[in-house]
Amino acid sequence: MVKLVLGIQWGDEGKAKVVDYFASGVDYVVRFQGGANAGHTVIVDGKKFVFHLVPSGILHPKTSVVIGNGLVIDIEAFISELGELAAGLPVDGRVFVSNRAHVVLPYHKLMDGAKEESSSKKIGTTRRGIGPAYIDKADRVGIRVGDLYQPGLKEKIEHAFEVKRHLLDDYYCIKDLPSVDEMTDTLYKQAETIRDYVTDTELLLQNAYRDGKSIVMEGGQGSLLDADFGTYPFVTSSNTTASGMFAGSGIGYIPDLRIIGIAKAYITRVGEGPFPTEETGAVGEDIRRLGKEYGATTGRPRRCGWFDAVIGRYSVGINGLHEIFLTKLDVLDEQDTIKVCTAYELDGKLTDYPPSTTEEMYRIKPVYTEVPGWKSKTFGLKKYSDLPANARSYIEFLEMQLGRRISYISTGFEREDVVIR
Ligand code: GDP
Ligand code: IMO
Ligand code: MG
Repeated sequence: MVKLVLGIQWGDEGKAKVVDYFASGVDYVVRFQGGANAGHTVIVDGKKFVFHLVPSGILHPKTSVVIGNGLVIDIEAFISELGELAAGLPVDGRVFVSNRAHVVLPYHKLMDGAKEESSSKKIGTTRRGIGPAYIDKADRVGIRVGDLYQPGLKEKIEHAFEVKRHLLDDYYCIKDLPSVDEMTDTLYKQAETIRDYVTDTELLLQNAYRDGKSIVMEGGQGSLLDADFGTYPFVTSSNTTASGMFAGSGIGYIPDLRIIGIAKAYITRVGEGPFPTEETGAVGEDIRRLGKEYGATTGRPRRCGWFDAVIGRYSVGINGLHEIFLTKLDVLDEQDTIKVCTAYELDGKLTDYPPSTTEEMYRIKPVYTEVPGWKSKTFGLKKYSDLPANARSYIEFLEMQLGRRISYISTGFEREDVVIR
């Protein structure tokens, strides 16, 4: 069976913890979009691992991991991440990188940073070069991993860099730009380091599926950051929703795909953009402190707010979700009352569907249902019947709002802190 694990809010839903949980005994864990903008945290026996490019299943020694064609890979970041892991874990023979994935070049990161610095309409990106690398891909001038093993790399980089060099130099006034020679030499060297991992990963996955191997697909970011269905333009540059898996892995049609949406028991967002249920005062600060809500990639404080069932239902639809994995329930343990946004008010009218434009999203007033908190510890609990009655009522209320079963509940950051219903 193939499980697809996706964040259904604005990212950081606890996807890595869930992927690690499902990865036990699984043959392959696969990333299919995004890049080192992701910050995926797994905590095992108190030891914390943060993955940016390496799929979160790597901690299971019998599991192989695949970086699919849909990613944009910062090869330097990948080598360093893998190097740290290799110090305590065998990695050889179980890491596969698509030769069709695109490469993030140094100038992509410079472009990302320069645009953020100078624009009056900041996105609040992670500055990992994600947008500019996907622009080159769409513009058909991108460098793919397979290109690193062919002659003519220098000419390809020259062609891609041509206009951007002027933009960076003349318009953004960035000095000390990397030369094409430097970029080429570095890439050729890095290519040798990763040579053994590079392959036709789509074929590997097609064969694995045909042979009955188990596969977990690990989404990056979240559905509301999807380039088509997110709060555009405050989104990332890839399809983070279920459709991204097909384009970004090449596994083909899978009749028995199980799509599992990960949602926090509240909601967070990093970077700019509309966030109807945001709590900017003491409540938000409380959630940030209790949930340790700081970006795993950039360290930025995450914006915090109440669960938004409108975007939850929207995510159920755009992903075709089968079920939900609710995380970080324990973070709400101390709340007297908890709010859930069940509808939006837009220009005096009620709606239960998110509007398509940012301007409208900014005008939304959330309509809340307030439910009593449970004021006791759920941290580390593993049985549904052990959860306080109000916590169970909260879960069942969310379930009713989303129209999907909440089959799993995470009650702590450790691998085993999970309630299965
Ligand atoms: P991801 O990007 O979706 O993988 O999520 P992040 O790693 O960016 O952020 C999730 C954070 O919440 C991580 O620090 C996890 O260790 C932590 N976490 C995950 N599940 C739980 C949970 O149920 N309770 C608590 N307290 N922390 C959790
Ligand atoms: P994980 O996988 C939360 C956000 C950035 C910014 C926008 C665009 O850990 O959930 P980008 O660098 O992708 O061009 O930034 O998307 N963003 C994330 N927010 N979690 C992530 O990843 C994110 N990856 C990007 O903050 O608002
Ligand atoms: Mg994260």
